[in-house]
This record gives sequence, C-alpha cells and structure tokens, in this order.
Amino acid sequence: MRGGGGGAAYRRGVAADGEYWNHNVHYQRVILGAVPAGCAAAVDVGCGDGMLARKLAGRCASVTGIDADERMIEVARELGRGIPGLSFIRDDFLGHPFAGSGFDFACANTALHHMDFAAALGKMARLLRPGGRLAVVGLARNGSPADWVIGGAGIPASLAYRRLKGKRDPRAPFGRKSWKYRW
Ligand SMILES: C[S@@+](CC[C@H](N)C(=O)[O-])C[C@H]1O[C@@H](n2cnc3c(N)ncnc32)[C@H](O)[C@@H]1O
Repeated sequence: MRGGGGGAAYRRGVAADGEYWNHNVHYQRVILGAVPAGCAAAVDVGCGDGMLARKLAGRCASVTGIDADERMIEVARELGRGIPGLSFIRDDFLGHPFAGSGFDFACANTALHHMDFAAALGKMARLLRPGGRLAVVGLARNGSPADWVIGGAGIPASLAYRRLKGKRDPRAPFGRKSWKYRW
C-alpha cells in the first residue's frame, strides 16, 4: 500500500465495515434499484472506495470496480477482500482496454463529471452486452440563480442526514478537501 496503511488511515473515519453516509452514498439505492435481474457481470466506473461495488456484489455474480486513484483502489481492495466475484482495476476508465464479453450492468455514481462526460457515457454503453442496462447518477453544475437556491436548500437536509447517520465521510478520492471537476 503506497505510503503504508492507507486503508487503516481511511477507515479511521468510517465504520468498521467501511460504511458511512454522504450524498453520493445516498444515491446508491437508485443505482442498486436499476440492476437487472440475473445480472452476471457489472462494472462500476469511478468506484472510489468500492462501497457501491461491494453492494453490487450481492446482486451480480461478477463486479468490476475501476478507479483512476491508486489510494482509492487500495482501500477498495482491502475492504472488498474475500467477497466472491469482486475485483478492482486501477486505471483511467477512458483508456482502459476491457477484455471479455462485456457487462450486463454498467454504472457510475457521481463520477462521470470528472471525465469527458460524452466519451465516458459512450464507452459505458459500448461495454454493455445486448439488453444490458446503464445507470448513471451525475452531478450537474449550477447554471442559474435558481440552481444555487435549490442546491442551497439541500444543505440543511444533508447536514441533518449526516448527524442522523453518525458516520463520518472519509471523502473520495481519499480525504481530498477539494477536487477539480471536469464538465
Ligand atoms: C466523487 S468520487 C465518487 C466515488 C464513488 N463512485 C462514490 O460514489 O463514492 C469520483 C471518483 O471518480 C474517480 N475518477 C475520476 N476520473 C476518473 C477516470 N478517468 N477513470 C476512473 N476513475 C476516475 C476518482 O478517482 C474518484 O474516486
């Protein structure tokens, strides 16, 4: 593990099972609800610490998480150790040459806005087997005063949820306080 003990440092902020709450986690249920019945293979793009991928592993025989951040993948591998069918790739999703016959389910939770959105969405669609399903939860940039008002109105709800859930958000990627968004 780069720098040694990255997973341990990460886990100091979360529950022993790697669970915590933030607004990304909140929307995992939308993605989990879209998993097709009988899903044999799924890919989670920009999987971060792998929390969603671990949950997907309960519904799909094989789950691949991919993330460009080495420390995120270290943590994902550590927390996902021993879960059947679960594996992680440390690479840029857009550049990664996926082998195999594709996926029944391709998802991304609050990750595509970090990449070339159209290219990433197109690649996810091409990775799907016939009849496969795509699920993306995205973040839109505030473009009007109304967007800022609506976004601001969500802050109290988010703070209340954090208090209720009582689990700290370790932040992905790995404790970064700020993250440059690509739109
Ligand atoms: C905001 S985090 C979301 C992580 C996770 N999906 C979640 O919901 O907690 C965005 C993730 O996308 C990853 N990412 C950004 N650009 C990427 C790329 N080109 N290929 C793969 N992963 C990327 C980052 O390293 C980061 O972990």
